[in-house]
Amino acid sequence: MRDLTQCLKLVEEDKALTSPGAKIPYYPLAIKRGRGAMIEDLDGNRYIDMLSSAGAVNTGHCHPRVVEAVKKQAEELLLYTHVYMYHEPIVKLTKELISIAPGDYRKRVFYGLCGSDANDGAIKMARVATGRPKVVSFIRSYHGSTYGAISLSAVSLPMTRKIGPLLPEIFHVPFPDPYRPPLPGMTPGQTADYCIEQIQTAFDNYMPAEEVAAFIIEPIQGDAGLVVPPVKFMKNLRALCDRHGILLISEEVQQGFGRTGKWFGIENFGVVPDAIVMGKAIASGLPLSGVVARAELMEVLEAPVHGFTIAGNPVCCAASLATIEVIREENLLSHAAELGEHTHERFRAMQKKFDFIGDVRGIGLSVGVDLVVDRETRERHRAAAAKICYRAWEKGLLLSFFSGSVLRIQPPLVITKEEMDKALDIIEESMEEFSKDQIPDSVLDTVKGW
Ligand SMILES: Cc1ncc(COP(=O)(O)O)c(C=O)c1O
Repeated sequence: MRDLTQCLKLVEEDKALTSPGAKIPYYPLAIKRGRGAMIEDLDGNRYIDMLSSAGAVNTGHCHPRVVEAVKKQAEELLLYTHVYMYHEPIVKLTKELISIAPGDYRKRVFYGLCGSDANDGAIKMARVATGRPKVVSFIRSYHGSTYGAISLSAVSLPMTRKIGPLLPEIFHVPFPDPYRPPLPGMTPGQTADYCIEQIQTAFDNYMPAEEVAAFIIEPIQGDAGLVVPPVKFMKNLRALCDRHGILLISEEVQQGFGRTGKWFGIENFGVVPDAIVMGKAIASGLPLSGVVARAELMEVLEAPVHGFTIAGNPVCCAASLATIEVIREENLLSHAAELGEHTHERFRAMQKKFDFIGDVRGIGLSVGVDLVVDRETRERHRAAAAKICYRAWEKGLLLSFFSGSVLRIQPPLVITKEEMDKALDIIEESMEEFSKDQIPDSVLDTVKGW
């Protein structure tokens, strides 16, 4: 039996003090330290991490090279605002980001502190650069918590309830979901065509294409439950944008920085965007975000349309430079691709065993396992997801789910095959126990999930 005394005490204090508006509860895990793919709670219990702090620590917890870079920079200069002055780490980092971002064109970069503000910046840039007001994102996308990012998002009613009005001139169109197509029986190709037709219908009826500045799209819809669109859709969307002079912006806050086995998720689709929105893993967990875009889109921005006092601070830039080095030197892109394939195979084997596994999907180490009440209806099985996550946690795994039914498998990219296999064994055991009805309903009072 695990001792959870300190965790439970802290969780109660936290619950009494911090706002519930920012918390999606899973289980009482109060984290003291982390190394690589392992974390330890306040009571000394250890867990393998399948969440990477919501995809923000792709290089693992406290990677020694990142920590060293942070310490070294912290001793030199914590902050001098880049809004007024200059510093070396930001210039070095900008060169690196430009070199890793797809697109054989001249680029520039602006910085922020989180994925949400980067999306706000992308909206501003698109509007200024095109002189058009409308921005289109996708139903069930998640883009963050600032007003701009919430306005782009369309995946959760509590996000928008009572806080309106939101940003005007934001439109949402359907995202192609091959597992839950718009009409039963549609193939992925038909689903892709249908979603392009919906955009065309919008252009023809209420959203004039010549007023649209940009499409902002997650290459894989993350919080919608890791929905991978057909390649055909991405290519056709690019073509549609080209035809109408609309920007295509790849929102890589969750899928970027190696998560899918490529630097950026969009590279899996053979499509080159006009801009990339980056956040989360860009600085291994330190507050940094950025937009890398065609230089001409940036060059029309007038200061201070998008400047934050502490954005791009030297310590975060140093962490980001070390992050890029680690991903390169430890071959984390190929590791993510290979281990991702192995993970898919293991889940596909589990799918043969457990009829509540409806779909296994994703790219690289961004894997979603969609649990369903019935494989025919594909009704989401929230209770299964909640119970399996809880039991896995009891067995030493930090596992979560999103979109009501999709187990979120996004471990740090430094995870070893042995650790991953141990994690998969725990998930399989927890599924086995769920299938035998050995996980009590009472856990559903604790695990709320996303
Ligand atoms: C795809 C995507 N975009 C944007 C965000 C918002 O990032 P942040 O929470 O750093 O503002 C998230 C966070 O979960 C995300 O997954």
